[in-house]
Amino acid sequence: MTVIIVTGTPGTGKTTIARKIAGEKNLKYIDVNKLIEEQHLYDALDFDRDSKIVDTGKLNRALIKIIKEEKDVVIDSHLSHYLPKKYVDKCIVTKSSLEELKKRLKKRGYKEGKIRENLDAEIFDICRIEAEEAGHDVEVVQT
Ligand SMILES: Nc1ncnc2c1ncn2[C@@H]1O[C@H](COP(=O)(O)OP(=O)(O)O)[C@@H](O)[C@H]1O
Ligand SMILES: [Mg+2]
Repeated sequence: MTVIIVTGTPGTGKTTIARKIAGEKNLKYIDVNKLIEEQHLYDALDFDRDSKIVDTGKLNRALIKIIKEEKDVVIDSHLSHYLPKKYVDKCIVTKSSLEELKKRLKKRGYKEGKIRENLDAEIFDICRIEAEEAGHDVEVVQT
């Protein structure tokens, strides 16, 4: 069983890296955004943020089920590091410069407030710190 999770601020390159790893290591790529949609793993919509308020308990249960079924997976999500350490072999945290991140999120059509929030998340290194706190074996990848 090989479980690699890829976390990081939106726009820092998770999907790019996760798909690459999946191809190279022959692991199944798990698109968590799609899973959240398909299985309704959110409590509500956050209109101010143009996003969903995900129930991380439900998400973890859904991901653990997939891990048990599929065995070898790469999980792509900024919420993936909330998985308990015992299910995870390696946690990649993608990071990018603020300048680059701003450019990417603008290109994605994010509103100014949402860009600001994501830049702040990157500045405070939230995903990496939370991943470390959860006890994951963290590797930082600059994109
Ligand atoms: N290593 C990289 N070098 C250059 N551009 C990258 C790299 N990784 C991602 N990008 C670009 O940054 C944007 C966001 O990448 P993406 O993988 O979708 O991030 P995330 O899944 O974290 O939101 C995409 O346009 C992608 O082409
Ligand atoms: Mg992505």
